[in-house]
Amino acid sequence: MIPIIISGASGQLGQAFLKLLSFQDGYSVYSFDRGQLDIADETKINNILTTLPQVKYWINCAAYTKVDEAETHPEKANLYNVLAPGYIAAACKKAGVHLIDFSSDYVYHNALRRPLKENDPLEPKGIYAQSKRNGEIAIASSGASHTILRTSWVYGPGGHNFVNTMLRLGKVKDHLSIVGDQLGAPTYTHDIVWAVKSLIMKDTNGGSDHIQGVFNFANAGQVTWDDFARKIFALKDIECSITTTTTEAYGAPAPRPPYSLLNCDRISLLLNAPIPSWENALERFLDLDDQ
Ligand SMILES: NC(=O)c1ccc[n+]([C@@H]2O[C@H](COP(=O)([O-])OP(=O)(O)OC[C@H]3O[C@@H](n4cnc5c(N)ncnc54)[C@H](OP(=O)(O)O)[C@@H]3O)[C@@H](O)[C@H]2O)c1
Repeated sequence: MIPIIISGASGQLGQAFLKLLSFQDGYSVYSFDRGQLDIADETKINNILTTLPQVKYWINCAAYTKVDEAETHPEKANLYNVLAPGYIAAACKKAGVHLIDFSSDYVYHNALRRPLKENDPLEPKGIYAQSKRNGEIAIASSGASHTILRTSWVYGPGGHNFVNTMLRLGKVKDHLSIVGDQLGAPTYTHDIVWAVKSLIMKDTNGGSDHIQGVFNFANAGQVTWDDFARKIFALKDIECSITTTTTEAYGAPAPRPPYSLLNCDRISLLLNAPIPSWENALERFLDLDDQ
């Protein structure tokens, strides 16, 4: 049995881990939603690891994810995305627990126009993106054993995400205007869980495989937001027309990278498995009853 902690358990990624890491598969899961653990509570983090000394992995799904609101609340972004993961990492270091945390394609935001590798230049723009990068630094500098998965355009059941927004709006609107000048890869929470489970399996099976450091992970392929919406509507037979707009005309408060494709060779080679395409992932998500 592999004892694991999940924090941020009621977010969309947290819910996916809770659903898919089961007792039958050899995991014993201790989960904490925001009401049970505020990740800015350093004392409680330490107490949890003292009372659960057998824990091997801490999967932190909690974060301040309000990208636009972060522009006017930099203190929250700093507390929850930088200081808090630093507290978890320090406690993990003390307890000999491996920390798994999540970062964003937004940390790259450079001028390169080919799939971005983990060691490419990082030029995060905007408060959220900078806080995610600083959170990575806080974890790495703690000295804790850790894995950071940089992912993009995440969606899954029970989440506030683009796919669920399109499914809701497409049923009540005849027409939507969607940004078409950002290129990226939508990523399904269930596939992130698959990747993390596979990394843990590599780690616990021992040998020379190591899961330390930063890994990119996104579903394979590329798409713009407007074409992603068109695909969602086509698969669900939703009749809602789309016109393409620009990032500038849309005018969100926080900057968005125009190019966000992640080179996922590092994780793909380690796991020795192809990563499912975003189209395949979307079809699996839309087939679920509980999206
Ligand atoms: N969503 C994306 O497109 C995307 C893309 C790249 C990377 N990521 C990263 O992936 C990870 C998971 O994101 P997600 O999509 O699952 O986001 P999410 O659905 O917004 O979940 C985040 C969860 O963290 C909780 N939380 C916030 N502050 C907390 C605190 N102080 N203590 C405990 N819990 C707290 C939130 O609770 P409340 O709802 O009550 O605030 C929410 O349940 C994050 O690290 C995020 O930065 C996400």
